[in-house]
Amino acid sequence: MNILWPYGLSGAPILVYLLLIPCLVALSVVVYRLTLHPLARIPGPFLAACTGLYEAYYECIKDGGGRYWVEIQEMHRRYGPIVRINPWEVHIADPDWNAVYKYSARASKPRWFYFRFFGKFPSTNVAESHALHQLRRGPLQVYFASSNIQRYMPTIVAQVDKLCARLRAADGCVVSLSDAFRCLATDVATGFAFGAPFGHLDEPTFDREFNVSVRTVVKTGTWSRHTFGLLLPMLHSLPESVAKKMNPAFGRVKWMKDTMTSCVQRSMNKPEPAPGSPYDMVQTLVASSLPPEEKTFPRLFSETRSVIMAGTETTATTLVCITAHLLSDPFKLHKLRAELGAAEAAKQEQGGGPLEYADLRELPFVTGVINEGLRLANPTPSRLPRVCEDQDLRYKNYVIPAGTTISTTTQDTHNDGRVFAHPQSFLPERWADPEERRRLNRYLQPWGRGARLCLGMELATIDAYLAVSRLFGPGAGFDMSLYDTQDEDWVPYHEWFAGFPKGRGLRVRISRSKEVGHGKEGI
Ligand code: HEM
Ligand SMILES: *[C@@H]1O[C@H](CO)[C@@H](O)[C@H](O)[C@H]1NC(C)=O
Repeated sequence: MNILWPYGLSGAPILVYLLLIPCLVALSVVVYRLTLHPLARIPGPFLAACTGLYEAYYECIKDGGGRYWVEIQEMHRRYGPIVRINPWEVHIADPDWNAVYKYSARASKPRWFYFRFFGKFPSTNVAESHALHQLRRGPLQVYFASSNIQRYMPTIVAQVDKLCARLRAADGCVVSLSDAFRCLATDVATGFAFGAPFGHLDEPTFDREFNVSVRTVVKTGTWSRHTFGLLLPMLHSLPESVAKKMNPAFGRVKWMKDTMTSCVQRSMNKPEPAPGSPYDMVQTLVASSLPPEEKTFPRLFSETRSVIMAGTETTATTLVCITAHLLSDPFKLHKLRAELGAAEAAKQEQGGGPLEYADLRELPFVTGVINEGLRLANPTPSRLPRVCEDQDLRYKNYVIPAGTTISTTTQDTHNDGRVFAHPQSFLPERWADPEERRRLNRYLQPWGRGARLCLGMELATIDAYLAVSRLFGPGAGFDMSLYDTQDEDWVPYHEWFAGFPKGRGLRVRISRSKEVGHGKEGI
C-alpha cells in the first residue's frame, strides 16, 4: 500500500493519488494504442500513434500552425503509402486507392474533424452520416444543376467584366490579385445563390482586410478541433465589442454574418415565385421535400454560409496559381493570348460576340491552363477523412477495420510523378492530346471524391475559364506584371482546411495595353 508514499496516509497522499491516477490511465491508453489497438501494425511515427497531441502540435503551433499536411507527406516518404497519422486514423497516398470514397462505402465524415472545425452550423458539408448527407444534398444538387447554372451565366459574366473594368482603370497601380480574386469568387457565389451578388468587387480596396478575417476564423476552427470543439462556440457567443477588441478582423466577420442573415431572411419571406420564374437557393431549399426541421433558419443560414465559405478561398487560390504561373512565363502567356485571339477573331467573323464558356472549353491551350491550375493550386491541402462504419476495408496487406478514420489528400495524386510527369511544373501542353487527357482527367480530383464531391465544381470552372480568358485575352485592354512577388507570397503554406500562403499574396502592377486588341485601337 505504502510503496508509493512511504510517509503514512495523511494530507499529501490524496494529492499524489489524484495526480497519479490520470497518469496511469494515460499510460495504459498509450500502451493499448501501441499494442492491442487494431491499427498497431500500421507504420507511422511512434508519437503520432501514442497521442493526438502530436497532430495538435503541428496543426496549432509549429510554424504558425496548419502544417500537419506537410508532415504527413514527410511520413509517406519515410514509411510508404499507408501511415497511421494519429491514434485512430490512417492516411493513404496511392492514386489508385479509392475504396472509402466509393458510393457503396456509405462512409460518414468524422465529427471531430469537420463539426468541431466548422462549428455548430448544420450544413450539407458537415453532415456526419451518409444518410443525413444524402438528405441534405438532394435539393442543393438540384440548385447546382448545369441548367440552373446556365440561367445565372449573365450574372457570372458581369462579375468577371466588373473585375476587368476595375483592373483596366487601375493603370499604373499595384493590385493584390489575391484580394481581387477572393472578391470575384464571393460575388460569383452569392450572385448565383441569391441572384444578386454581395458586391465585394465594389469595395475600393478589394476588401483588403477580409483575408485576415477568413484566416482568423479558420485558425480558430483548427484550435477548436483540437480542444474538443469548445473554442468556436465561445467565440461566437462573445459580445461584438469584446470580439472586435480582441481582433479587429471580427468586425468583417460580423458584417458578413449580418449580410447573410438578412439575405436568408429576405429569401425565406419572399412570396413563392410565379411558375417559370427562378427560385433562389434558399427558396429552392424551402420549396423542397426536406422535412420541416431541415428548413429552419439556422439550417438555411448554415447552408448559405457553407456554400460561400466553400466557394471563395478555393476558387481564388486556383486563379492566383494560374495567374502567377502565366505571368512568370512569357512564352505560355503568349501562347494563351494567341489562342484566345484567334478564337475571338474567328467568332467575330461569324458575327458572334465575346467568347463564352461553351467556346472556351473547346480551346486546348486554355483548357490545359485551367487544368494545370486545378492540379497545382492545392486550394484544399487538407486531407478528407471518412469513416466506414459497416465494413472493413483493405489496403494491400493491411486490413483497416470498420470504424477507422481513413483519409487521402488530393494533392498527393496531383504531385505523383507516375501519373503526372514532372509534377511540379506548370505544363498546359500535357493536356493537349485527347487520349492522354482522358487518362489524366481520371487523376485530376481537386473537387474531392465520391458522394461528397464538390457541388460548386461547374460554377468554379466557369468562373476560372471566364476570368482567364477576359484577363489575358487580347481584348483585355491592360497588362499585368508580377510586383515584388515570390512564390511564398501566394503558394499555400498553412492548411486550415483551405490553404493559405505565408506571404503577402499575389501582387501585380497594371499597365494599359500597348498591344492592339481586335481592332479596338487605344483602349
Ligand atoms: C476551384 C474551386 C473549388 C475547389 C478546388 C473545391 C474543392 C472542394 C472539395 C475538395 C470538397 C470536398 C470536401 C470534403 O470532402 O470534405 C468540396 C465540397 C464542396 N464545395 Fe467546393 N471547391 C471549389 C469551389 C466551390 C464553389 C465555387 C462552390 C459553391 C459556390 C463550392 C461548394 C461546395 C460545397 C457545397 C461542398 C460540399 C459538398 C457536400 O458535402 O456534399 N465549391 N469542394
Ligand atoms: C492580408 O491582409 C493584410 C492586411 O491588409 C495584408 O498585409 C496581407 O498582405 C494580406 N495577405 C494576403 C495573403 O493576402
